[in-house]
Amino acid sequence: MTSPTLSEVTGEFADDVRLHDDITGFAGQDPQTISEVFLTGATGFLGAFLLRELLAHGLTVHCLVRAPDCDTGLKRLTENLRTYELLDGLDLDAVRVVTGDVTQPRLGMPEETYTELAGRIGAIYHSAAKVNFLTIYKWLRRATVDATHEILRLACAAGATLHHVSTTAVFEPRADRSPRTEIDPTGPPQSLQLGYAKSKWVAEQLVLKAGRRGVPVTIHRPGQVWGDSRSGACQENDFVWRFIKGSLQAGVYPRRFRLSMNIVPVDYVSAAIVALSRNPRAIGGIFHQVSPDVLGPEEILRLLRSAGYELTEVSILKWMKAIAADVTNSMVPLMRVMAESEKVEMAEFSDVSTREFLVDAGFTSPDIDEAVFSTYVAYFVRQGVLPDPATVNGA
Ligand SMILES: NC(=O)c1ccc[n+]([C@@H]2O[C@H](COP(=O)([O-])OP(=O)(O)OC[C@H]3O[C@@H](n4cnc5c(N)ncnc54)[C@H](OP(=O)(O)O)[C@@H]3O)[C@@H](O)[C@H]2O)c1
Repeated sequence: MTSPTLSEVTGEFADDVRLHDDITGFAGQDPQTISEVFLTGATGFLGAFLLRELLAHGLTVHCLVRAPDCDTGLKRLTENLRTYELLDGLDLDAVRVVTGDVTQPRLGMPEETYTELAGRIGAIYHSAAKVNFLTIYKWLRRATVDATHEILRLACAAGATLHHVSTTAVFEPRADRSPRTEIDPTGPPQSLQLGYAKSKWVAEQLVLKAGRRGVPVTIHRPGQVWGDSRSGACQENDFVWRFIKGSLQAGVYPRRFRLSMNIVPVDYVSAAIVALSRNPRAIGGIFHQVSPDVLGPEEILRLLRSAGYELTEVSILKWMKAIAADVTNSMVPLMRVMAESEKVEMAEFSDVSTREFLVDAGFTSPDIDEAVFSTYVAYFVRQGVLPDPATVNGA
């Protein structure tokens, strides 16, 4: 596996990147002959779309769900699919719910269930993680770092290839604008701003090490994942949507501030991950699911106006005051992250190597244009998350 060089790693991270000795290499199965797979995170945003994609490939999908029993687990899963408007188009006959928890030994499964599962699956799609920008590394370690050890143990027990969902946040922000490629060095963790990014960096290092020991793995680094480019279904809690909602709540938009995000639709991310996982040549690779362009603050304002919202541009100070004046504003909990992100230049990302693998499968550039943005707005209006532009503008 091609892998970034390990930069200086200090303190708790030096201990946490040690891969346990019981993770040892094996020959994986031909991805095209696999019929049963294991998916974590199916009650989350990306996981719901991965599930749709895996089912579309005719696979039986065993989904790990935190629940007291399988019926409750299935209810959680279907509710999540309903939220993302995926339920109607899906046949759930090929879905098997396994209750458990990625932080627990054997992923929280009884030994018999674990052994039976390990005997069936040929691939693991690991999307579960604690996605929280506000908390520190220490509180994310169990669900993201320790869990990766447990997932790797299952991969070894099953002889299953691990497809690990990482993030472009493992790259350090930097001043120069040359895009980071799939094989560029990541970290070091102490330079990453968010505890979340640190935890994902450590988890990725464990997977890379397992790959070097001969465990078949792929690593996928999506940019900021937005909604389905056709239905608009999206999660509302990411930083930029909260920023958009908060600005609409306050009726103002900050002038001249730094925010550049590589945003990519979830249907592209999930389809690319699954297509790559089915390609025998891709095993051992690192892949980027990113957009060709970053979305900056001016572009977001232009898209909002094209969707019909009227916003007044004000200085960043006035914007902050307007947000802080309303404790119910959706940006209030994220003001610290906003202030921090103002100080750094976000990295840009290249997906040239990834696209070489996808070119034959007919994947097009995952751009967020006016048409795609308007499907997001329409979804959030349907969900009651954003106001209808016609109503707020008094039309
Ligand atoms: N969203 C993005 O923009 C983005 C960008 C790049 C990378 N990623 C990566 O993509 C993956 C999915 O992100 P997401 O946005 O879909 O997150 P999400 O909606 O918060 O979903 C997280 C999933 O992980 C599960 N999970 C958390 N702790 C668990 C535990 N202890 N045991 C079992 N399951 C557990 C959650 O289950 P519960 O429902 O039980 O909590 C949920 O299904 C993550 O690895 C994330 O780092 C996301």
